[in-house]
Amino acid sequence: MNHTGLFITFEGIDGSGKSTHIERTVAELHTQGHRVTSTREPGGTALGESLRHIVLAQDVDPLTEALLMFAARRHHLRHVIEPALARGEVVLCDRFTDSSFAYQGYGHGLDLPILGQLEAWVQARDGGSGSHALRQPDITFWFDIDPHLAAQRRSGRAGDRFEAQPVSFFERVAAGYAARAEQDPQRFVRIAAHAPMQDVWLALRQGLERAGCLGPQTTP
Ligand code: TYD
Repeated sequence: MNHTGLFITFEGIDGSGKSTHIERTVAELHTQGHRVTSTREPGGTALGESLRHIVLAQDVDPLTEALLMFAARRHHLRHVIEPALARGEVVLCDRFTDSSFAYQGYGHGLDLPILGQLEAWVQARDGGSGSHALRQPDITFWFDIDPHLAAQRRSGRAGDRFEAQPVSFFERVAAGYAARAEQDPQRFVRIAAHAPMQDVWLALRQGLERAGCLGPQTTP
């Protein structure tokens, strides 16, 4: 791992199981002596958590939704993510900009160039140029799952207004993730999230090993 930290994001439709695996990743990284910042979007700061509360509860149009997500993201980057990376930490973030493209863009039909503009404004790096002009995750683990299976997994749990969307919405969101992954194959690691939990963990672990932030497994 280099000394400027590592920025890892976790993406997937609701019910893909990513949150459980983020907790396990945090524990494993700690065991191996890494300093870790584990955070989430929308959220991660007091302002971000307030915006999360609003955006998950209130029905707003997709552009308003995207603006709120990116406002929270800007604050999150400046106050949590960039400082942690500068300290050389591993930053694990439950959702980031790919969620905005997948949900607001592909799911709700917001123009992708608008999202591209927001991404460019919000993720601009001081003094960055070329492919380093924008802060992007170093790795994105994409928990890919059939939207019908994810809906089954979600049933029975109290959901927010995003989770109440029909399966057809999540099919569009899933297609959005697939499109983003195709555009940036270096960054995306697809995890087959329908598999049994232990297999999903092994796939994730291999990805973390390849990224150089975990050594080989020592415990079963
Ligand atoms: P999540 O934290 O996965 O929900 P939960 O606490 O139920 O596991 O994400 C909250 C919701 O926010 C999720 O349905 C996706 C949505 N979201 C967007 O629509 N756009 C975004 O940019 C982000 C970050 C999240």
